[in-house]
Amino acid sequence: MLRIGSAIKRYGAITALDGVSLDIARGEFFGLLGPNGAGKSTFMSLVAGLRAPDSGTITLDGTLLSPANVATRVSLGLVPQGIALYDDLSAEQNLRIFGELYGLRGADLRRRIDEALAVAQLADRRRDQVKTFSGGMQRRLNLVAALLHRPKLLLCDEPAVGVDPQSRNAIFDFLEKLNREGLTIIYSTHYMEEATRLCSRIGIIDHGKILALGSLDDLLAQLPFVDAIGFPTGAATAAFATAVAAHGELVSDNETHRFGPRAEFKISEFYTLAERHGVSPRLFSHERPTLEALFLHLTGRNLRE
Ligand SMILES: Nc1ncnc2c1ncn2[C@@H]1O[C@H](COP(=O)(O)OP(=O)(O)OP(=O)(O)O)[C@@H](O)[C@H]1O
Ligand SMILES: [Mg+2]
Repeated sequence: MLRIGSAIKRYGAITALDGVSLDIARGEFFGLLGPNGAGKSTFMSLVAGLRAPDSGTITLDGTLLSPANVATRVSLGLVPQGIALYDDLSAEQNLRIFGELYGLRGADLRRRIDEALAVAQLADRRRDQVKTFSGGMQRRLNLVAALLHRPKLLLCDEPAVGVDPQSRNAIFDFLEKLNREGLTIIYSTHYMEEATRLCSRIGIIDHGKILALGSLDDLLAQLPFVDAIGFPTGAATAAFATAVAAHGELVSDNETHRFGPRAEFKISEFYTLAERHGVSPRLFSHERPTLEALFLHLTGRNLRE
């Protein structure tokens, strides 16, 4: 459905997208996972046709997407990272403007506005100015505004940031339902939990490059170990961490060391080392592999910094 070929986008000296090639099939729920500044919003703005790439091509069903090609852009919906609403207008007035921009009118538009307000759980606030809404309420309205014209491809740029867990779940359920009904979704986030829950395929992006691409299982299989033993970071475990690192792979963030032993390293030796360093076995936990660990493995950095 969507084909991105060697897309490059620079802002002055910064290369925000550095040769991204990617195919998205119809019906996918694709996750773009990367830290701040990775290039997620730049990717979204190119696909949405808001900006042109410096080089490379982006096509939707074979048609070139570009800022000039307004007709094709109607097939897209963008939920921008920054709230894009008129805050001195009401929820309803905002939706009317978005709908009219896409040529919707009359009873059809009114029905879609009612539906959108219901989904955003804002039916009772429809006549209130957007500036009187909480951040999460504005996020919900921002999301449904992008769906009024029933796009084929929905681009969601960190749509759930600052939304409370309950509303976030409602948004996730809603997006999953739309996806089951056939909507293709590209969803950017720096939360691996969101990518894990929602996405059938995930691209890990950093410094404008896609570093890894695949289903959750494909990606986790790229980790040098499957299961790991976790223990807390800190002065009390520092020497022990150094000692075990010689016997396998140690991936550490601010709170946790995750040790994946080499096949020949016996777990009994691990406990002997722990005893020698005065580290209590009570500190050990069984760590499932995570995208966070994979990101750390690929880049040496944390996903969230
Ligand atoms: N309009 C702009 N002018 C100059 N530099 C920009 C502009 N937009 C983005 N950049 C730079 O391009 C790089 C990628 O930014 P981008 O906004 O795409 O990242 P992101 O992955 O969306 O990050 P975040 O998670 O913080 O939203 C960054 O180095 C950023 O500073
Ligand atoms: Mg962004």
